[in-house]
Amino acid sequence: MPDDDDILTERRTRAGARVYARTQKVRLRINGTTHELMLDPRVTLLDALHEVGRLAGAKNGCGRGQCGACTVLVDRQRINACLTLAIMQEGRDITTVAGLRQDGAPHPVQTAFMEHGGFWCGYCTPGGQAYSTVALLSEAAGGQASAITPGERLEGLRDDEIRERMSGNLCRCGAYPNIVAAIRNVVERTAAPGS
Ligand code: FES
Ligand code: FES
Repeated sequence: MPDDDDILTERRTRAGARVYARTQKVRLRINGTTHELMLDPRVTLLDALHEVGRLAGAKNGCGRGQCGACTVLVDRQRINACLTLAIMQEGRDITTVAGLRQDGAPHPVQTAFMEHGGFWCGYCTPGGQAYSTVALLSEAAGGQASAITPGERLEGLRDDEIRERMSGNLCRCGAYPNIVAAIRNVVERTAAPGS
């Protein structure tokens, strides 16, 4: 980053001591719109998304890569937004759940989750389960094997495949059977002729 994009900002600790943090300009392309933010380089992508405002679909469940509630797509690959720095994602396409809707209508994955009760409290759903499902479908369609895929290429998505591919996304409410049913529904609708 150019030096003139750097700014030293003064902050106060809780004890009142002065500390200085160097912030710099970071341009993030989120859901097709470029946002210019002044960020401490240590800010995670998850915190930056929340800072951009009202992009709270990706949740902070654990903050350490264990729950998947913060899942977003970066260049169409799912990642945990709590485990990457915002500054590392400059120039990439970041998509959050807000970018899932199509012409204002829910994405088919969101519809299936609603129809099958794939969420209870909903905390894990928008950023985590829904986004991982979208990525799961595109990974499977692209022939990417999971840890339990038999052979080199995937032939259909069995329920155990779905569970394996969603294993990085935890649901504290235990809505797992409904989540699998919702994903199974999307898989079958996608495979149905004329769908
Ligand atoms: S908040 Fe990122 S994995 Fe849990
Ligand atoms: S629906 Fe409550 S954590 Fe998943």
